[in-house]
Amino acid sequence: MCGIVGYLGHREAYPIIIEGLKRLEYRGYDSAGIALFDGTNLNISKTKGKVADLENCVEKQISKNGNLGIGHTRWATHGVPNDVNSHPHTSNSGNLAIIHNGIIENYDSLKKELISRGYSFKSDTDTEVLINLIEDVKKKEGLKIGKAVQIALNQVVGAYAIAVVDKNSPEEIIIARLGSPLAIGIGDNEFFIASDASPFIEYTKNAIYLEDEEMAIIKKGKDIKIRKIKDDSLVDPYVQQLQINLEQIEKSGFDHFMLKEIYEQPKAINDTYRGRLLREEAIIKMAGVEDNMKKFLNANRIIIVACGTSWHAGLVAEYIFEDLARIPVEVEYASEFRYRNPVITEKDIVIAISQSGETADTLAAIKLAKSRGAFVFGVCNVVGSSIARETDAGAYTHAGPEIGVASTKAFTTQITVLTLIALRLARAKGTISSSDFRHYLLELEMIPKKVEKALQADAHIKEIADIYKNVSNFLYLGRGYNFPVALEGALKLKEISYIHAEGYPAAEMKHGPIALIDENMPIVVIATKTGHYDKVVSNIQEIKSRKGKIIGVVTEGDITVRELADHIIEVPDTLESLSPLLTTIPLQLLSYYIAVMLGKNVDQPRNLAKSVTVE
Ligand code: AGP
Ligand code: GLU
Repeated sequence: MCGIVGYLGHREAYPIIIEGLKRLEYRGYDSAGIALFDGTNLNISKTKGKVADLENCVEKQISKNGNLGIGHTRWATHGVPNDVNSHPHTSNSGNLAIIHNGIIENYDSLKKELISRGYSFKSDTDTEVLINLIEDVKKKEGLKIGKAVQIALNQVVGAYAIAVVDKNSPEEIIIARLGSPLAIGIGDNEFFIASDASPFIEYTKNAIYLEDEEMAIIKKGKDIKIRKIKDDSLVDPYVQQLQINLEQIEKSGFDHFMLKEIYEQPKAINDTYRGRLLREEAIIKMAGVEDNMKKFLNANRIIIVACGTSWHAGLVAEYIFEDLARIPVEVEYASEFRYRNPVITEKDIVIAISQSGETADTLAAIKLAKSRGAFVFGVCNVVGSSIARETDAGAYTHAGPEIGVASTKAFTTQITVLTLIALRLARAKGTISSSDFRHYLLELEMIPKKVEKALQADAHIKEIADIYKNVSNFLYLGRGYNFPVALEGALKLKEISYIHAEGYPAAEMKHGPIALIDENMPIVVIATKTGHYDKVVSNIQEIKSRKGKIIGVVTEGDITVRELADHIIEVPDTLESLSPLLTTIPLQLLSYYIAVMLGKNVDQPRNLAKSVTVE
């Protein structure tokens, strides 16, 4: 899940690559590196650490000149994050350099073979094996670099997005993809390459997304040539117009992307409704669903596959699909689903949920489901992403770019899209009355305003964060629709503050976790009026009897929990099924402030990356 950037054209490549790498740092930040062609030499600088560290190294080590360059920000899979394992990697002759996102699974056998043929290796990476394999093919057969890359890739098992440069072809970059994303920006006599389009949006809106098993030969002053890796046949490039703009990927005055994205939720949810929720006409319009209505109505069951936060959104969807549309739903971790032998039939619908649309496990689950005849529907945020393209139909969340590694607005907009789908199906199946349907639309339409209100608890949540920032453990409890919210709250805290946290269905507490409770344990309990309130109040009593510290997330005006809890955070009232859209907000803010107070890197937590394109 590294980030890769490249430039070839008439401008200085260095600033474009550095700025591009900063935008791609969400993909990994173990190390960074750059190779610049100054016309004669291929100058390489690389270092453990972030892109800012790379800038310091470049100042000291190499010339910044050149109109061709490639850069990399790494999330290590093979070899510890150190200078030597950083990309770019060079071939033994020093003539070829590569940057790579993905894993070469058969690197070990290839490496042994290359060693037996006299090659030596400086790093522990799979990537260095690939560049030497390319060199070996090139030398043995006296080939041009493009052809050598194509032949070498046919010997490789695994996943990759790569960019390769050759000292002897100073006006050419070869790129290829299988499994990991790669976009090409096409400017006026210049080309940009990147893992997503963010590094080049201020230069061009014309982009080609390379498909799996395709490679491109990019030459200065020439048209781009896209070929199939398998047989070298030419492919017609499809140039699309990008919709994102620069403002969307900047912090706009917020200290962190995560906070900006938390605050963007009212707008993001509104954008998700736009053109779909037509309250006055009492309809929900979603092309992906309408076009496949028959399939949805005849489905025996829906299987939701996803990872992490998207999996939590899937759990909320399970409640709402079963509740409203009366369709049985199973929610699976994509990584588990793909490695067992699941029973899937042509009457199943698989819904894959993914913010990035690039998660390797989710992609693999989709491919498995398709191969067994299921209809696969995608719920993605990133337009044109691999999952969006791999699925039979889908609905975008329209949340706008999410850059903070911890997912926030992606979660609430995923729930929004899934709620719209459930309601649309319920209407078509007749499992919801027309008056209830109208009531839902009305409530849904009020959600963005209510999220704004929930955000007003910001200062109060900050105070609570200050009290508990130094504890070692947290529990999160919720029932029904708010059980997945408890899981999500715990995940948010873990990933950005590194405090251990567990989410449980509130009633499960007495089956084990209650043993953890003492006067040092903070327990966040979601206790909204509409969700099994009395039962949750009993659970709160049980905690209180064991002296646990209670942080209650309650409906505005609540009296009972106020008396029992150590702290309460109010959210506006809404239907139980829509309450996750509100109860999630304080949990996001709580983890955000705790992490900030602990001095953690909120947007780029350790060991994580935004899109997990390795298995
Ligand atoms: C969320 O905060 C996480 N960083 C992570 O669990 C994420 O949700 C997961 O990796 C799935 O990503 P996706 O939605 O892009 O597929
Ligand atoms: N396998 C490569 C490395 O370890 C790339 C990793 C990745 O894309 O996550 O450097």
